[in-house]
Amino acid sequence: MWIMRQAGRYLPEYRELRTRVPSFLDFCFTPDLAVEATLQPIRRYGFDAAILFSDILVINWSLGQPVTFVQGEGPKLEPIRSASDLAALRPDAVVERLEPVFETIRRLKVELGPETPLIGFAGAPWTLATYMIEGGGSKDHAHSRRILAGDPALYDAITEMLENAVVAFLTAQIDAGVDAVKLFDSWAGALDPIGRERASLHPLKRIAARLKAARPETPIIAFPRNVGAAYAHYDRELSVDALALDASADLDWASGALTTVSALQGALDPIYLTIEDNAALDRAIERQRAAFRGRPHIFNLGHGVTPEASPEAVAHLVARWRGSVGV
Ligand code: CP3
Repeated sequence: MWIMRQAGRYLPEYRELRTRVPSFLDFCFTPDLAVEATLQPIRRYGFDAAILFSDILVINWSLGQPVTFVQGEGPKLEPIRSASDLAALRPDAVVERLEPVFETIRRLKVELGPETPLIGFAGAPWTLATYMIEGGGSKDHAHSRRILAGDPALYDAITEMLENAVVAFLTAQIDAGVDAVKLFDSWAGALDPIGRERASLHPLKRIAARLKAARPETPIIAFPRNVGAAYAHYDRELSVDALALDASADLDWASGALTTVSALQGALDPIYLTIEDNAALDRAIERQRAAFRGRPHIFNLGHGVTPEASPEAVAHLVARWRGSVGV
């Protein structure tokens, strides 16, 4: 059991730590702070696994695309929309520029000891490409989908650069000590079936195969978010160890149909953690328990915990899932 964004703004101790450095990326690249942020939810709740405190957009930054996080507005990047924009990036310096992340991992392995595994992660190429092309978050990812459909040569060049960066970054995370890696394809659900195959499924398939060839012992979790019944394609095609489900996934279907992959992860809606009374949360927890009974399952949320979540509700969730509150 662990929860996405378990370190973050719903925790008062994180909000306090976060004030030490104004820039979010500087925070991520300061090992003292990233180590402490990673450990905070482990100390408070004793989750079974820690997830490295970082962000998916460090890859865009490491390629030389300027990235800033504007308070209340999310990430802002200088958009890449042409072959000449792309040519200005520096794909060879990724691992070198991300050295503070590997230092954070090495220190975390010492702090966590053998009891608590550490999960590393990266954004998947399509999700990173949407931020790269749109220049930030976006409702419909129209520029990205238009380049994918209308300028295949440019899209292929973008995805190849991102794929190589993801493989290099995750391999270096594994070498620094992470025990498993997770690929976040948060915007996979924005694609039609043609786009989904080309921009999400196939890149994830190639990345998983390359990681399995290079570091066969390291488990891989893939999270193609909001893909509905297409989860079955990911199940059949990806050489990964777990598929993470989003909150809209049909749990009973998923549990019965996604049988190639050994474990499923998910998928409680984080909204239940924002409600004062725990009755709805308890019912939702039981729904998860019933759906995944009898098969390997990693308890998690269907999306990251939000700043509005109550730390007490998270404590209740942990206790309830572990069965110590009369379940
Ligand atoms: O899960 C974890 O605890 C590990 C750390 C982690 C963060 N972001 C920390 C973070 C992980 C795995 C991510 C992934 C991430 N980042 C995704 C994929 C998963 C998802 O949520 O869909 C995406 C799309 C991003 C990009 C991103 N980072 C956005 C859109 C934002 C701004 C929105 C927001 O919540 O403010 C971030 C910032 C961010 N990443 C914060 C944290 C804790 C908040 C920064 C702060 O103000 O302290």
